[in-house]
Amino acid sequence: MMTSLTSNSSKTDYPVKIIFICLGNICRSPAAEGIMKKLVADKQINDKYHIESAGIGGWHVGELPDKRMRKHASLRGFDLNSRAQQFEDSFFNKFDYIVVMDNENYKNIFNRAVDDEQRRKIVKMRDCFIKHNGCQSVPDPYYGGEEDFELALDLIEDGCQGLLNMIENK
Ligand code: 4NP
Repeated sequence: MMTSLTSNSSKTDYPVKIIFICLGNICRSPAAEGIMKKLVADKQINDKYHIESAGIGGWHVGELPDKRMRKHASLRGFDLNSRAQQFEDSFFNKFDYIVVMDNENYKNIFNRAVDDEQRRKIVKMRDCFIKHNGCQSVPDPYYGGEEDFELALDLIEDGCQGLLNMIENK
């Protein structure tokens, strides 16, 4: 589990700034953004969090999330209404946690970090799983079917809850 978080016993500085990263910023990371926003709103701690998402690629900048992901998320009570943006190196300074969905995302972001302070901010969503411990990533559902969107949402809900627990219990 997230050694960088659990080994850091310092008090949490609020607001906590989190950005979720995937390849296109229209399926997985906007789902994570919407789910995390609802988790903190439900706990009435939304004023302690700033939450965004971004893509490694810029193909979908300005677009709403994929309509299949919006449909599956809405059936679970999550409203996804962010607009896609592309990750920029300046985000390393703007955010406390940069949460990536898979190992390709991790490699890309890790290679852009310039020092240990930036590298320490990068978190793999898989290291936040509670119920899905052992799953290696949040697989990309973009070229998949309904079950792939459901699996991505199961993993993202689990990972967001795990991340929130770790930050709040730090
Ligand atoms: P995401 O899925 O990374 O979960 O947003 C994708 C969406 C679009 C593309 C790839 C992945 N694309 O190549 O356009």
